[in-house]
Amino acid sequence: MSLTINLTVNGNTQSATAEPSTSLLDFLRDTLNYKGTKLCCNTGECGACTIIYNGKPINSCVTLAADANGAEIVTIEGLADGDKLHPVQQAFIDTGAVQCGYCTPGYIISVKVLLDRTKEPTPEDIEEAVSGNICRCTGYTKIVDAIQLAADRMAGRS
Ligand code: FES
Ligand code: FES
Repeated sequence: MSLTINLTVNGNTQSATAEPSTSLLDFLRDTLNYKGTKLCCNTGECGACTIIYNGKPINSCVTLAADANGAEIVTIEGLADGDKLHPVQQAFIDTGAVQCGYCTPGYIISVKVLLDRTKEPTPEDIEEAVSGNICRCTGYTKIVDAIQLAADRMAGRS
């Protein structure tokens, strides 16, 4: 039996049907066509599928679409302002923190939530914010550089 899911994605009201077992990630990617959020482990381990769900970062692969009825969601597609990338997106590019890019949308979402909360994140804040995200390419140093650069820019320090 299909369920009707009503939710808001990047400020747009959306309504579509999903099976009770459909993950929110599959619903976003395959039904609503928000392909920017990535499917990787599909078990809640890697953070590639991170989205903002009612203000908090979650792994959308282990969340049911049915449970998201009425939710407010932000995906990576919702961060840029027209042609202008979000400062976190721009910082990842400027520091070379993107290689294959598969982990990148999830990282950027986690970092956006962090920097919306604090413009002066401590190393511990950064570590905690991205503790659910895995990158197999960059070795993390450049990702930390990107987070620091984004924080500096968003706080007007750079
Ligand atoms: S794809 Fe969801 S945590 Fe890995
Ligand atoms: S850039 Fe390839 S997994 Fe992070």
